[in-house]
Amino acid sequence: MSDAKVILELALGIAHQAGKLLMDRPASWNLTEKSTAIDFATQMDTASEKLIVDAILAARPHDGIIGEEGASREGTSGLTWIIDPIDGTVNYFYGLPGWNISIAVKDETGVLVGVVHAPSITSTWHAVRGEGAYLNEIRLECNNPVLLNQALIATGFAYEIKDRAHQIEIVDHLIPMIRDIRRIGAAATDLCCVATGMVDGYIETGLKEWDLAAGELIAREAGAIVTTQMWRGLELTICAGPVLHERLSREIPA
Ligand code: IPD
Ligand code: CA
Ligand code: CA
Repeated sequence: MSDAKVILELALGIAHQAGKLLMDRPASWNLTEKSTAIDFATQMDTASEKLIVDAILAARPHDGIIGEEGASREGTSGLTWIIDPIDGTVNYFYGLPGWNISIAVKDETGVLVGVVHAPSITSTWHAVRGEGAYLNEIRLECNNPVLLNQALIATGFAYEIKDRAHQIEIVDHLIPMIRDIRRIGAAATDLCCVATGMVDGYIETGLKEWDLAAGELIAREAGAIVTTQMWRGLELTICAGPVLHERLSREIPA
């Protein structure tokens, strides 16, 4: 087995362990406010990150780690794990499906391995750089070419209220031109839905490294283009098959 495959198997195993923990929903909640009053973590975000970090360090003590809930560790091996222990915490808290555990591993070239495990919808996506993207064991190809007027576009909204006005401007501009909008509630799932052809494209601003790392590799390995560029002082991410990506990029209001 190649080194990347060994790391993939480890990441898949750890993501499944975290998934098992999270599927056992707590009887009561302990919420911690984060960047704004609407941005919070539950005790399960912390517990999931601890499980993932402990499992990584037990197997690979020399790797670096970046986790949304605070894990931060310089490694010496050249590999760094990027963890979102629950992507879609709001969905998880309300009992809505689609939340996921997102685990990526990067080397000096970029993201090497990505795993997005969404047990509430029995879906596990994975990719190794250069070796294609998979949902469970099915190889993926994103939808392409897709015309703008037939495009189903996923999006999300930032926890920063002032940023939402800009995001609404994009939605307001696009909605008369496209098939419809979906707000799934978890960025990594959105990216994987593009990879799978469950939506045609995805647009969001303000994504963090742990939102993007695994899902971006999976979308790219399924043939999608993923770009992040500055727009109105925000980092705007656009993910879609090549034809729709080019069209969406031209349609973003100046
Ligand atoms: C959030 C979700 C949401 C997206 C936000 C993310 P979190 O991640 O992915 O769909 O709109 O931008 O921050 O906070 O649930 O891990
Ligand atoms: Ca997230
Ligand atoms: Ca999270």
